[in-house]
Amino acid sequence: MSRRINLARRLIKMGALIQSLAVVVMKPGDLSEFSRQSYASEQSVNDWSGESCIASGLYADELALLDSVPAKTGSLLLLGVGGGREAIPLARMGFQVTGVDFVAGMVERARQNAAQRGLQIDGLVQNFVNLDGPGATYDIVLMSRAMYSCVPTRAQRVQMVTRIANALKPGGFFLCQYQSQAGAQPSRKTIAARRLFAACTMGNLAYEPGDILLGNIEFIHEFSSDAAIQSEIEEGGLRVVRFQPSPNRLRRGVVCEKSPVTG
Ligand SMILES: C[S@@+](CC[C@H](N)C(=O)[O-])C[C@H]1O[C@@H](n2cnc3c(N)ncnc32)[C@H](O)[C@@H]1O
Repeated sequence: MSRRINLARRLIKMGALIQSLAVVVMKPGDLSEFSRQSYASEQSVNDWSGESCIASGLYADELALLDSVPAKTGSLLLLGVGGGREAIPLARMGFQVTGVDFVAGMVERARQNAAQRGLQIDGLVQNFVNLDGPGATYDIVLMSRAMYSCVPTRAQRVQMVTRIANALKPGGFFLCQYQSQAGAQPSRKTIAARRLFAACTMGNLAYEPGDILLGNIEFIHEFSSDAAIQSEIEEGGLRVVRFQPSPNRLRRGVVCEKSPVTG
């Protein structure tokens, strides 16, 4: 009997190993599309725009991020608007909200949910990695729910921060949440094996330890330290003002500022 149990344990381990290779077999563009397809399902759009999600409103850690900056009204760009859970209370607080999402159905439902409550929000269907729009427009750019971590590769995250910096007014703030590491780092052998598999399949050649497919639904990069995200944000042209702990130990916040001086 113990031989069979051992075999079963080995098969489970092999299954986990094979599953963990899914994140390296896709190129960065495929990883984004993989996440987009998950969010675009009817079930996901309904979940993120349903009454119970909208009724939760802003979470305490999101309110704390907003409280930490002087701007209490003005124009606010919300990256990953979903069905409007944050957009609605933010519009009610007096912000002119523009919500971005790469799922058209989410943007549509966010607008409808706001309109049903007598509020108006603008929507853009875009991948926020390629954020495109007029410069120096927003007082605040907000990215909650650890969505900073949803962007594959360091290079793309730096590019996104550069675009966010461009969208902000001088002295404007970027408030974001990211995922910090849940478990131990993969071993050096595991990292090397994943990189080799990525190379053999011409997949995610930019694989970094911390890259995972969360719940096999979406790409997430778990940061091993505050310094790692700080270096990306600063390379993208924003100053990190402070880090903010959250009741959810794995979801940390960071307050960033665009220099008030132009040029
Ligand atoms: C976890 S849900 C959060 C929705 C909403 N912020 C909330 O908390 O209720 C993430 C949302 O971000 C969108 N999203 C994820 N990655 C994105 C990307 N790269 N560009 C644009 N939207 C993205 C998804 O489609 C989804 O609507």
